[in-house]
Amino acid sequence: MKENTCRQAAKRLTEYTGQESEANPIRILPVTTGKKLYLPLLLIGDEQESMIDRYLDRGEMFVMQDQTATPIAVAVVTDEGDGTLELKNLAVHPHFQRKGHGRRMIAHLCEHYKHRFHTLLAGTGDSRQTVSFYQNCGFAYSHTVPGFFLKNYDHPIIEDGKALKDMVYFKRRMADGR
Ligand SMILES: CC(C)(COP(=O)(O)OP(=O)(O)OC[C@H]1O[C@@H](n2cnc3c(N)ncnc32)[C@H](O)[C@@H]1OP(=O)(O)O)[C@@H](O)C(=O)NCCC(=O)NCCS
Repeated sequence: MKENTCRQAAKRLTEYTGQESEANPIRILPVTTGKKLYLPLLLIGDEQESMIDRYLDRGEMFVMQDQTATPIAVAVVTDEGDGTLELKNLAVHPHFQRKGHGRRMIAHLCEHYKHRFHTLLAGTGDSRQTVSFYQNCGFAYSHTVPGFFLKNYDHPIIEDGKALKDMVYFKRRMADGR
């Protein structure tokens, strides 16, 4: 009986971690309680805490850990209705950037949600690095919300040396593999 329970727990863990293997011990786990413990990472993706508070409770959150259980990336998504899931926050710790972890998190979200949602939407500032990232992950331009950063943030958000003004949305179909 006990052995069965252990096997079930191991199976559940494998299902959640998706790409975990001995060669690639990165794990992606859902976070249902204590989301604010990851605030330092969340602030990398969205630098104003009051803006994070707008979506954190209703959002579903995931953390990526390395083999030592160190959190290296987070993502928060919200159900926006009509089969659309929105990526509200995606952040990879600066020490771990440009190693494919952001792309891996996107792939995990698409795999995890592909039976419940058809579209993944992501809003970002108009900066070269994030636009390049989303394009590389199979997203295409969707629409722009003019003045979003000026209206909603209490201080200028500087990326690539310039203050962000508009929120630019990108979208991709969940089922498009990358
Ligand atoms: C944007 C971010 C999530 C990307 O995660 P990452 O793990 O560093 O990115 P990946 O290694 O998966 O990159 C995949 C591809 O995206 C593109 N890309 C990623 N970062 C880039 C950068 N700084 N400049 C240009 N292209 C970039 C590249 O094409 C890259 O492929 P390559 O390395 O083979 O050339 C991460 O840099 C980050 O957390 N940035 C700060 C917070 C943020 O801007 N969040 C996104 C908006 S909410």
